[in-house]
Amino acid sequence: MESANTFDLPDDLDAVLADVWQRLGRAAKDRRAAMHTPVVATVTKAGIPSQRVMVLRAFDRATATLRFHTDARAAKAEQVGSGSPVSILGYDAGAKRQFRLSGTARIETDTPAADRAWAEATLFARRCYLADPAPGTVSDLPVSGLAADIEGRKPEDEAEVAPGRANFALLMADIDTVEFLHLAHTGHRRALFVRSPVDAWQGKWLVP
Ligand SMILES: Cc1cc2nc3c(=O)[nH]c(=O)nc-3n(C[C@H](O)[C@H](O)[C@H](O)COP(=O)(O)O)c2cc1C
Repeated sequence: MESANTFDLPDDLDAVLADVWQRLGRAAKDRRAAMHTPVVATVTKAGIPSQRVMVLRAFDRATATLRFHTDARAAKAEQVGSGSPVSILGYDAGAKRQFRLSGTARIETDTPAADRAWAEATLFARRCYLADPAPGTVSDLPVSGLAADIEGRKPEDEAEVAPGRANFALLMADIDTVEFLHLAHTGHRRALFVRSPVDAWQGKWLVP
């Protein structure tokens, strides 16, 4: 439930940033939260923007890092590599708030964090990483990419999905800029927060 206050016009920069962090933290845990499926934008090697919806899996407030899961063979994984610009956009229609985050993304495949995320994922989620050939491969027929013997059913045990681990990756986005927009008939509100080198956040109001 949103409290009545949530919809009050924000007039305090600290409270605005706290609202952003609170919504991101909730969105990682609540599949019905607006920010659970933000749009994640990367840049192709040719410099073309490329966007897709992704599920927000975790948010670390201390480092302002968002965690997503993806296939290591996906186009976005190649675009991101060990570090590249990322922009993440969410809109909470109930609260009439847009959140535009940017920073640097990196792909992790063989880290303890990736091992942990794999172990915690459901069997169904892990099944996605069994696709063969790789996601994005051209196919003569409409296909899921999964083998017929596992398509359409829940995997029975960990051994069945284990081969997918090699294809599983984390997309970690370290955020250094947050732009907030709140829509209201009485006058919109817009604020920009930039992470300073000493790990503090500097906020300022912008004309919407
Ligand atoms: C609701 C929704 C959630 C999605 N979640 C993810 C996700 O968590 N990870 C992912 O790699 N793709 C996810 N996708 C698929 C991507 O949007 C995209 O189509 C796919 O990953 C290929 O992207 P790429 O070719 O840019 O790598 C999701 C799509 C939808 C519609």
